[in-house]
Amino acid sequence: MFFVEAARLSDGEAIHQLVTYWADNGDMLHRPIGEIYEAIRDFKVVRDEGRLIGTGSLHIMGSDLAEIRSLAVSADTQAKGVGAAIVASCMRDAEEMELERVFALTFKPGFFEKQGFRVANVMEFPQKVWNECVRCPFFTNCKEVAVVRDLRPSATLAVPMSRGFSPSPARYELGEGAGG
Ligand SMILES: CC(C)(COP(=O)(O)OP(=O)(O)OC[C@H]1O[C@@H](n2cnc3c(N)ncnc32)[C@H](O)[C@@H]1OP(=O)(O)O)[C@@H](O)C(=O)NCCC(=O)NCCS
Repeated sequence: MFFVEAARLSDGEAIHQLVTYWADNGDMLHRPIGEIYEAIRDFKVVRDEGRLIGTGSLHIMGSDLAEIRSLAVSADTQAKGVGAAIVASCMRDAEEMELERVFALTFKPGFFEKQGFRVANVMEFPQKVWNECVRCPFFTNCKEVAVVRDLRPSATLAVPMSRGFSPSPARYELGEGAGG
């Protein structure tokens, strides 16, 4: 069983190590440790007997939009539903805050599509592109794919539902396909 919970300041180093592991592997972008501490209130974590095995953050971008960032699950805990549970927790927060859309830039659009996101044009998020992407060294050669999930009821109904993003409990069982 595992819980998705708010990160503590003392999680900063472990979050950084997990993100760095996958960034070195080419699966996501690096995140400087200073940025992680600055945004620590955005982060969620999953622990297994005290060890951090998953993380992800929900960053508010404006009155109606937030971004899921730095989603990572430890190499030995892949495919047990941890990533889906972190996304579901972020989506619950977004709904509570009455946000209209949540997006991500990712090398794994297929994972997000399973969570009810659709592939989008990154220019749907000009605040991201012109405030942050322009400073990224990969700006002119970006391989990340934009994905978005609409939260307004009318838009949500248009998206095919999968168990990955049906209302989820705060508590999860570790195991094959325990994502929903
Ligand atoms: C991508 C990642 C977060 C997924 O986390 P996870 O805990 O292994 O995934 P889950 O077990 O929650 O998977 C949920 C569903 O998504 C599917 N899925 C997982 N990774 C997938 C991928 N890369 N492509 C397509 N589908 C994927 C699973 O098969 C599962 O499907 P199901 O609901 O039909 O059973 C994890 O693989 C990871 O940490 N990767 C390295 C870092 C990374 O790529 N981060 C992505 C953000 S840039």
